[in-house]
Amino acid sequence: MNRIFESHAHYEDEAFDEDREALIASLPSNGIEYVVNVGSTVDTCRRTVELIAEYGFFYGALGIHPSEIKDVSDADLEWIEKETAANPKLVAVGEIGLDYYWDKDNKESQKDFFVRQIDIARRTGKPIIVHSRDAAFDTWDVMRSARASDCGGVVHCFSYSKEEAAKYLDMGFYIGIGGASTFKNAVKAREVIAYVPLERILLETDCPYLSPVPYRGKRNSSLNLPVIAENIAAVKGIGVKTVCDVTTENAKRMYGIL
Ligand code: NI
Repeated sequence: MNRIFESHAHYEDEAFDEDREALIASLPSNGIEYVVNVGSTVDTCRRTVELIAEYGFFYGALGIHPSEIKDVSDADLEWIEKETAANPKLVAVGEIGLDYYWDKDNKESQKDFFVRQIDIARRTGKPIIVHSRDAAFDTWDVMRSARASDCGGVVHCFSYSKEEAAKYLDMGFYIGIGGASTFKNAVKAREVIAYVPLERILLETDCPYLSPVPYRGKRNSSLNLPVIAENIAAVKGIGVKTVCDVTTENAKRMYGIL
């Protein structure tokens, strides 16, 4: 069986309320050796801290998603920084970034939260998990001026062109590939997969969202990672085992897991 690293999941989500324990328990025997559970609100960050205490193979990231910044206080960000600095199983700051698909009228506060959380990553010595949607130029611009290359990290669920991917590779970032890359019309995503060296790709589901074909529209879970790996293998013309082995090493290196 292939060894797989799930680099981005949301197992605290209510979509897993009915069978969370059984599903998580089934992951190791299906080759899922590591999971990074990613927070997006204060509440899901708290749940992430609980999950990583409960499951040995779970690691976590705390951060406020750009669509969730409303009502987040300075004290909340201070709590994130304190937890992240103190808990060795918190291996990144995220997910953070810019999302102009859902909100276009608060771009300045999105940027402000993004910069402040990049600073948390720098001070705690952790990489960042970047969420970016319909905000290609501004994301790169903020990361460049806030010196995100000091922290490193991943641009998750990468949805831009290979020319954009080149800019993040130049900054030392990894590219997260998930289920959307398997969609029939995902021409751009397949170009990105072909272009980005395997040594810079992370496997992810973003579950419960974004199930790969043929499970599109259903609840996603890490059990679907082999489908995403097979698609990468097919596009690159290499073996699935190589994809799983190399992306696992990539994630361990990026998240600093020995
Ligand atoms: Ni996510």
